[in-house]
Amino acid sequence: MVQTPAAQTILVTGGAGFVGSHLVDALVDENDVRILDNFTTGKRENVNENATVIEGDICDSETLERATADVDLIFHEAGVVSVQQSVEEPMRANDVNIDATLALLERARDLDARVVLASSCAIYGQPTDIPISEDESFAPSSPYGLQKSALDHYARIYEELYGLETVALRYFNIYGPRQSSGDYSGVISIFKRQATNGEPITVDGDGQQTRDFVHVDDVVRANLLAATTEHVGEAYNIGTGESVTIDELAETIRDVSGSSSQIVHTDPRPGDIAESEADISKAMEKLGYEPTISLKEGISSLL
Ligand code: UD1
Repeated sequence: MVQTPAAQTILVTGGAGFVGSHLVDALVDENDVRILDNFTTGKRENVNENATVIEGDICDSETLERATADVDLIFHEAGVVSVQQSVEEPMRANDVNIDATLALLERARDLDARVVLASSCAIYGQPTDIPISEDESFAPSSPYGLQKSALDHYARIYEELYGLETVALRYFNIYGPRQSSGDYSGVISIFKRQATNGEPITVDGDGQQTRDFVHVDDVVRANLLAATTEHVGEAYNIGTGESVTIDELAETIRDVSGSSSQIVHTDPRPGDIAESEADISKAMEKLGYEPTISLKEGISSLL
C-alpha cells in the first residue's frame, strides 16, 4: 500500500503530459492539484477535470510564479523528453530542462515546498556496469542526458545547501497509456502505431541496444513514495531491473498485436545508448518501491 500525499496544494508541471497526467489522476481526490502545461506535447484530453490548469510556458517567470503560489509540493515532469529532439534543438531543450528547473527550485526554496524531479538514466550514458546503480558515474551522450544530469545535481545541491527537500527519480524507459506516438515519442508507442497500421516497424541501428521498460503506473507509485519519504536529497533509479533488446521488443509488439508488419533496420541514432538496465535495489530499500507490471503484461494491456 503506497502512502499518498493528502490535503496538500500540489503543482504538477507537465500535468497534461504522459507521466504528469497519470500522476494528477492519482493525487486529485485527496489534494488541491494544479497543472502547469503549455500544451505543446501535453493534451487537453489528458487533463483531469478536478485539477486547476495554468496554461503557459514554464520558462516564463510570471507564469511560474502564478503556478507555484502557495504550493506545498511540486512534481516536476515538464521538459523536453526526447533525446533526439535535444540533439536537434539543444538550446531550446536547455532552456526547459535546466533553466526552468533552476527557476522552479528557487521558487520552491522561497516556499519551502518539497520537489520531486524527473531525472533520467540518460545521465549515465554508456555505463561501465550492468545493471546500472546510482553510483555509476555520469557520462551523458546527448544534450538531453547532460541537461538531466544538471537537474539531478541541482536537486541534491539544493538539499545540501538550502535544506530544500528534493528527490530525483532517474526514470528508465517509461511506457503506457497516453504516451503520444509522434516522431519524438517513446519507442513502444511508435512501434504500436506502426504495427497497428501495418507499416514497417523501424528499428534504429542493429536493434541490439537494450532498454529497461517501466510501466507508467509503477512510475506514479514511485513518485508518491518520493513525495512522502524521509530519505530526501537522494536520487533513485526507477525501472524494473530487467531489459530487452529493441529487436526483441519489435518482435513482441508485432506478435502480440497480430500484425504482419515487417521489421526494418535503419541507421543508428546519434547519441543513442547501447545498454540500459536499472539496479533498483536503492529505491526498493529506501523508498519501498517495487515494480508490479511486467513488460509482457504492460504491452498486452496497451495493445
Ligand atoms: C527515453 C525517453 C527519455 C528518458 C530515457 C531514459 C522518450 C521519448 N524518451 O529515451 O525521456 O529519459 O528513455 O532512458 O520517451 N528506437 C527505434 N525506433 C524508433 C524509435 C526508437 O529503434 O522508431 C530505439 C532508439 O534508437 C533507442 C530505443 O528505441 O535505442 C529507445 O528509444 P526512445 O523510446 O526514443 O527512448 P530513449 O532514447 O532511450
